[in-house]
Amino acid sequence: MDWGLKNRLAKIIKPQNRRGVMLAVDHGYFLGPTERLEVPRKTIAPLLPFADSLMLTRGVLRTSVDANFPVPVVLRVSGGASIIGKDLSNESITTSVKEAIRLNVSALAMSIFIGAPHEHESLVSLGNLVNEGEEYGIPVLAVTAVGKELEKRDARYLGLACRMAAEFGAHLVKTYYCENFEKVVTACPVPVIIAGGPKLATELDVFNLTHDALQAGAAGVDMGRNIWQNDHPVAMIKAVRAIVHQKATVKEANEIFLKIKSESSQNKDQLQQKSKPTQKSKSKK
Ligand code: R5P
Repeated sequence: MDWGLKNRLAKIIKPQNRRGVMLAVDHGYFLGPTERLEVPRKTIAPLLPFADSLMLTRGVLRTSVDANFPVPVVLRVSGGASIIGKDLSNESITTSVKEAIRLNVSALAMSIFIGAPHEHESLVSLGNLVNEGEEYGIPVLAVTAVGKELEKRDARYLGLACRMAAEFGAHLVKTYYCENFEKVVTACPVPVIIAGGPKLATELDVFNLTHDALQAGAAGVDMGRNIWQNDHPVAMIKAVRAIVHQKATVKEANEIFLKIKSESSQNKDQLQQKSKPTQKSKSKK
């Protein structure tokens, strides 16, 4: 592997333990102002210190992330369909590699849609993007998208999609966790990371998902909604991070979550107390 490509990949999947925590905030590219990502800067800023890398579009990167903060960027470069349109698989490459270089990104990301109407176009785009990325030493993350058909998320389908992504040259694959996930990972010769998907019912569900995926061989997470749609996003990312990097158990991750949650609630209470007018200042009025 070329030095530049290897170096960029090492910013995303840490070579010490071959794991990584990627924070996904690219949802607006087809969902618009997703709940709790309405003002991207507000959602992203507190989480940045705990993310190994950040996955997003150039628009949100330029407008909502401080260029002085040295977080490795995984740039989504595909798009072209919206949640209210006819076919989510109708995507093309929308951002050039020249632009990605200008933005100093560590990887390019695009979706492939296996079994969907635009399967062919998305696969050819992946091949072309890998060709271009390789030329400049930029790795490519392939996202195995399922569109609105969340029920597609089983080992047979995801195993097919992940393997095909790797065959087309993707350096990293993002997919969903499923039963028999080890089959998906074993048959994919490049690192596999998992998306969180729509918000789960409890924090424990998220920690179990993360833990089980890693046990089955995943190299980490590219997680969004289950972190920033939680009322305590910093506590969530820190707990997920502990599972990924410190081999924390589900129980330990939950303890981390509860501890940070209670500390932040106490801080909030103290701030509210301070901002209340005192008896003295009230009587002056
Ligand atoms: C979906 O295609 C987007 O690329 C998201 O980055 C991905 O789904 C991960 O985010 P979440 O954990 O919210 O599913």
